[in-house]
Amino acid sequence: MDSAHVEGDIVNILFTEEDIQHRLAEMAAAIRADYEGKDLLLVGVLRGAVMVMADLSRHLDRHLEMDWMAISSYGSGTKSSGVVRILKDLDTDISGRHVLIVDEIIDTGLTLSWLLSNLASRDPASVKIATLLRKPEAVRMDVDVTYVGWDIPNEFVVGYGLDYNERYRNLRSIGTLAPHVYS
Ligand code: PRP
Repeated sequence: MDSAHVEGDIVNILFTEEDIQHRLAEMAAAIRADYEGKDLLLVGVLRGAVMVMADLSRHLDRHLEMDWMAISSYGSGTKSSGVVRILKDLDTDISGRHVLIVDEIIDTGLTLSWLLSNLASRDPASVKIATLLRKPEAVRMDVDVTYVGWDIPNEFVVGYGLDYNERYRNLRSIGTLAPHVYS
């Protein structure tokens, strides 16, 4: 499967590569100002956050550290169960550190509200969230997100880290899938 075929499965591009890089640069400018003079540890949530982490961290253009967590929110079958398990924990002791969680999307808000309180219990100097996309339910749940790229409607989106059956994460843009992919 070459890249032309992958792009061909997208019917409606919501954000181009250019849009994404432009917005990440704006988010990075805000983050850089807020954390000036402070150490900064970015915590990426595997696997979808890999692209955002790579690009946001390079837009930040300052000293920082990165660590990763893998968490599963499918504990008892459905995502809405709210059951979250740590599959891979941080390698870093975050006590006294300024932690910024980096993710690509907040959907129901369950994963990140759980992660926020889990990391907060480890005595960090601060813990905040940056996400590229946020869906309406997370807005309603009032998850405390400090940096948001875009609020999007409740559509199934892929690309730039977001998958459908583990595919499409490597798309440079974000869009909705053509019906022929899943019909
Ligand atoms: C996505 C995303 C968030 C979570 C948000 O990860 O990276 O961590 O879902 O969903 P929520 O707000 O409904 O809890 P996913 O579980 O799809 O795993 P992935 O990053 O490996 O694709």
